[in-house]
Amino acid sequence: MKILAVDSSCDESCAAVIDTTQWKLLSDVVHSHVDSMKKFGGIVPEIASREHLKGLPLAIHEALEIAKLKPTEIDHYVVTNRPGLIGALLVGLSFTKSLAFSSGKPFSTLNHIEAHLYSPLLTTLDGNEAPPFPWVACVVSGGHTEIFHVESLLKYTWLGGTLDDAAGEAFDKIGKLLNLSYPAGPKIDKWVRESATPADRGRYRFPRAKTEAHHFSFSGLKTAVSLQVKKSDLSNQAEVLALAASAQEAILDALVIKLLHSQQILGVNTLVLTGGVACNSRLREKLPQSYFPIPKHCTDNAAMVALLAACYAKQNRLVAEDWNTTAYPSGNLIKN
Ligand code: KG4
Ligand code: ZN
Repeated sequence: MKILAVDSSCDESCAAVIDTTQWKLLSDVVHSHVDSMKKFGGIVPEIASREHLKGLPLAIHEALEIAKLKPTEIDHYVVTNRPGLIGALLVGLSFTKSLAFSSGKPFSTLNHIEAHLYSPLLTTLDGNEAPPFPWVACVVSGGHTEIFHVESLLKYTWLGGTLDDAAGEAFDKIGKLLNLSYPAGPKIDKWVRESATPADRGRYRFPRAKTEAHHFSFSGLKTAVSLQVKKSDLSNQAEVLALAASAQEAILDALVIKLLHSQQILGVNTLVLTGGVACNSRLREKLPQSYFPIPKHCTDNAAMVALLAACYAKQNRLVAEDWNTTAYPSGNLIKN
């Protein structure tokens, strides 16, 4: 069976095609809106919706072209309809429904966070072993920082998450305080890796929030950095670097401490991390025994959605939905 998957939950227009019989990814296309968002210093939901109107047809067309398939040769269409920016989700949902309808094929909706959660299985499409179940898994991105106990394929429990900002949001907001352009996470990572010393990383002792097990909080850290910034000379690059390095260390320590604790509580050996922040090289250095998908599959993509659909299909649970299906901004659906 050939499945075309679409993701438009945030500021990337993504489309991918998977062949479930060959267990192969036929295409994997991402059109990022990051350049349009830079001048606003962050994501503007209205702009993201408009960018999807331009980016999605291009991404879908390209995904079909690379897979050498016509829309009528796709057996099933899938799209993420929750959680995310509601306008952005509605563009992707309308587009995918229309394609399925006009091609006379069924369509289904999936959860974006669940797709991130099982993205470590993308490695099996290249013939590699998946990390062994059970997992403690963390989806750590610009919009989410959530921990799950993943028992097996499509069987998992939500354990906890951030009480305020997501870790990626903390990177981006702290970057803004330091006059770094959006998204600041990858810039801080690269700058600290290339130029910071261990002394820079330890220069400022920003707080690592002591929350309940499986939960995070990053708003106190953001406030601590903003208070320090007021006392600092931002024209001195060495000082900005030390602030960035120390803030990154605090965000990552908070993640590492909580995740190792969750593993200990549950007695689970395998730790997997995914989502944009899982690209971070210092985080990977701090957790050498953990599993991280390749960076391209940590950030938003439709390959993970196609793979999740293939997993549902494998269990005969990829059910065709009604044409009146809608989208939801909330992530609560996964927390049942
Ligand atoms: O998963 P993603 O592409 O989009 C969603 O938020 O769903 O994640 C984007 C977030 C941004 O906040 C970005 O700053 C952060 O992930 N990010 C990083 C790195 N790469 C992306 N944060 C730290 N280090 C990185 N290398
Ligand atoms: Zn995401």
